Amino acid sequence: MSNPLGIAVVGCGYWGPNLARNFERNPRSRVLALCDIEARRLSRMKDLYPEASCFTDFATMLEAPGVEAVVVATPVRSHFALAKAALLAGKHVLVEKPMASSSAECAELIALAKKQCLVLLVGHTYLYSSPVRKIASIIAEGGIGELKYINCQRLNLGLFQSDINVAWDLAPHDLSIIQHVLGEPPLFVNCQGNAHFTPGIEDVTNLSLTFTQQRFATIQSSWLEPRKVRQITFVGTGKMIVYDDLQPLEKIRIHDVRVECPPHYESFAEFQYSYHYGDCYLPRVEQCEPLKVMCSHFIDCVREGVTPLTNGEQGMAMVRILEASSESLRARGGAVPVAGLRELLPVESPAA
Ligand SMILES: NC(=O)c1ccc[n+]([C@@H]2O[C@H](COP(=O)([O-])OP(=O)(O)OC[C@H]3O[C@@H](n4cnc5c(N)ncnc54)[C@H](O)[C@@H]3O)[C@@H](O)[C@H]2O)c1
Repeated sequence: MSNPLGIAVVGCGYWGPNLARNFERNPRSRVLALCDIEARRLSRMKDLYPEASCFTDFATMLEAPGVEAVVVATPVRSHFALAKAALLAGKHVLVEKPMASSSAECAELIALAKKQCLVLLVGHTYLYSSPVRKIASIIAEGGIGELKYINCQRLNLGLFQSDINVAWDLAPHDLSIIQHVLGEPPLFVNCQGNAHFTPGIEDVTNLSLTFTQQRFATIQSSWLEPRKVRQITFVGTGKMIVYDDLQPLEKIRIHDVRVECPPHYESFAEFQYSYHYGDCYLPRVEQCEPLKVMCSHFIDCVREGVTPLTNGEQGMAMVRILEASSESLRARGGAVPVAGLRELLPVESPAA
């Protein structure tokens, strides 16, 4: 077995420590360095990782002995500069979602990683989660008929961000899942929202995505909700799936319900929809922390040359959709086309 992969984590706020924990627990990697501009965050990490070196200066951290890969878990505005510096220093990079503040920045990181022959993986964590993989395989096998519509709700109180609106903060999870199960990019995007507290930073947004074959998806994102909600409904021609990520065990419910339209009718009096109400069943889903799977996959990419499941191109496609959502917000919900995404995504849907 090769030496454990030397990992450095930059950003030790809420999410960085989860990534550090998963790399440290993996026998194929070691957390060698930690960086945060706030020293108080580092003192807490130093207790947990006494053998790791701690830095408040990122450039100095890049010189720490043994560091082969950098995990970027800072606010989005700093992703580009940190990931670029890491790639230029010859380090593999795992950068959190959304990949960067603009698609131009994403394109530069993709080109640099290619030039340097380094792995660039984007933290679209949900694509490593057992429920999402299960749902994708049920849909790909035709288990709910033709998938027509996806409705996502990701709501809670806060946490207000200072550099991005709620769509950029929360919708990436839903966008990655939608993209994965549909296997194609949207044709256009509409987004409406409102900034109730911080001028210019929407804290509630409703995003709609229109796909080919009249397929449609909606994403409601909010920092202004007393309840925490993490739900996605997948509507097929034969069945419907409700995915509730907050349920500890029964996260997926497949409802044998559907609406049927008569193929032909002569008059309005004859016209009737029929509603089918069948059983509901709960498929078994393995319990495994998605981050554990993602960190292990990142090590496979670096050590075994495996192609990242969530690569820079997918990160860039998502940022393009988010840019379109911002443009639509400025146009009060007008439709914004998103061209050129197809070549960024895998030819075949990973779910297919
Ligand atoms: N994949 C997921 O499920 C998931 C979940 C939560 C957050 N995230 C992502 O993780 C990233 C971090 O989110 P968070 O909630 O932990 O934010 P946070 O604000 O809690 O923590 C960010 C940390 O980065 C530090 N920091 C800021 N700029 C820095 C710099 N230039 N150099 C070094 N340190 C710097 C801050 O001091 C802070 O400690 C974001 O991109 C977010 O979208 C992903």
